[in-house]
Amino acid sequence: MAQPTPLVAGNWKMNGLRQSESELQALEGLLGAGSDAVCNVLICPPFPILSRFADVAGDALMIGAQDCHTQVSGAHTGDVSAEMIADAGATHVIVGHSERRADHAETSSLVAEKAGAAHRAGLTAIVCVGETETERDAGDTLEVVLKQLTGSLPETTTADNCIIAYEPVWAIGTGRTPTNNDIGEVHAAIRNALETQFGDNGTRFAILYGGSVKPANAKELMTIDNVNGALVGGASLKASDFNGIIDAYRP
Ligand code: 13P
Repeated sequence: MAQPTPLVAGNWKMNGLRQSESELQALEGLLGAGSDAVCNVLICPPFPILSRFADVAGDALMIGAQDCHTQVSGAHTGDVSAEMIADAGATHVIVGHSERRADHAETSSLVAEKAGAAHRAGLTAIVCVGETETERDAGDTLEVVLKQLTGSLPETTTADNCIIAYEPVWAIGTGRTPTNNDIGEVHAAIRNALETQFGDNGTRFAILYGGSVKPANAKELMTIDNVNGALVGGASLKASDFNGIIDAYRP
């Protein structure tokens, strides 16, 4: 069975202005200058600059959004549809990030609808799952993560239109990461669940790790079994830092 192509994805969250295009250009320069990385590279900027970024991004870089609505269009003030995201030139959309689950009370069934909307529009959905610190301390990590996973995948899911991101909530923006063993255990459990649901195709899904990934720890994290890339917040904002993470996939 083919191995998933690794992906290093940057989630800019609510950061970035038109002038941040220079950071995108700097990243393109670094991607072109170094030896070829054996991974895909994605930047997910906020909506106002999404279309511009998609216009100027070269072949080495893909552009994605951070959320989408479930409907194609209509009376949903302030929302953005997956079709609009595709029309802007993006190829991916993050759904179910823990910040949206927490700040906007998004449930796994809503996340599944959003991932389904992404598929309807021809986008790849990056479906996020992850436990809180309280859940980890209670020993509930695998149960929580697998429940989110199965509840967040729509019927349209395939290994080609869906990427899973495991992001422990307590590791996001804190500088703390789980041990390699703990990450390996969760990624193995996700892989197992995907194989149960999708048979042999379960091996083809990329499973990203996210939460305080930095240039200093990326190489080690990316060698853990079933870790097929990273979803990066803070360290994706500066081209030099993000490129240092991409180094994990350079010879
Ligand atoms: P940090 O890399 O800043 O910890 O954020 C991770 C994240 O939430 C990416 O989606």
